[in-house]
Amino acid sequence: MDLRNKVALVTGGSSGIGRGIAETLLASGSRVAITGRNQSRLNATASAIGAHPVQADVSRQTDAARTIQEVLDKFGNLDILINNAGSGVFKPLVEMDLDGFQRTFATNVTGAFLMAREAARHFIARKQGDIVNIGSTASLRGAANGTAYYASKFALRGMTECWRAELRKHNIRVFLVNPSEVITSFGTAAGFQQKDHPSKLRPEDIAHAVKSMLEMNDRGFVPELTVFATNPVD
Ligand SMILES: NC(=O)c1ccc[n+]([C@@H]2O[C@H](COP(=O)([O-])OP(=O)(O)OC[C@H]3O[C@@H](n4cnc5c(N)ncnc54)[C@H](OP(=O)(O)O)[C@@H]3O)[C@@H](O)[C@H]2O)c1
Repeated sequence: MDLRNKVALVTGGSSGIGRGIAETLLASGSRVAITGRNQSRLNATASAIGAHPVQADVSRQTDAARTIQEVLDKFGNLDILINNAGSGVFKPLVEMDLDGFQRTFATNVTGAFLMAREAARHFIARKQGDIVNIGSTASLRGAANGTAYYASKFALRGMTECWRAELRKHNIRVFLVNPSEVITSFGTAAGFQQKDHPSKLRPEDIAHAVKSMLEMNDRGFVPELTVFATNPVD
């Protein structure tokens, strides 16, 4: 796909990996809308990078439908959905509270489903479109304290495979990108400190991977890509 003049929607584009992807797509000539719940951070990012802000919570059905409509109203089209919005609660099983579990699934699973459903209705009608789900290496294997977050990313990987099976016949490509640790605000939002080091992944590394996958000719696609830091130092 030639990214010039394509329309991309990046959920959770106000921060971290989503912001990095939005910036890279803008630099490639795409028109980009970004979402987030926090209006002031969303507006600050949008004006800093030149994206269109849509304040919305992916886990709310009405917000998901409104987001796609606002993008269509603004740009007249949608070519790419980046399902990036995500958060995590990390606790041992015996301390995991129902609210934290449900919040994690609401954004990472229900939110991704709602956004993909709205986008896919548009893509099927046009017989083209790309959906990129931002999973995690947590999509691939379990770990201690992973009851909510890891399970939600397994579910996202499962939905990715289901959507791919359904949507290929409509010329819609569905990708999964699994970053390992990336230095963003994710840890702070989840209540832990990420130790920064120059050897660790940055949002632009994930953005580079996403851009490369999208730019491949539409006759083919790379279904899943996992990105590790070569030699991360803690
Ligand atoms: N950082 C890592 O090490 C890492 C590794 C693997 C995978 N990932 C995945 O990468 C994605 C991006 O994470 P990040 O590291 O860039 O984290 P981040 O810097 O905390 O960014 C998360 C973004 O998602 C938005 N968001 C969260 N919940 C939302 C909701 N319900 N509706 C709409 N927007 C929502 C946030 O904005 P608001 O809070 O204002 O809504 C923010 O823009 C996530 O899916 C995460 O699981 C991260």
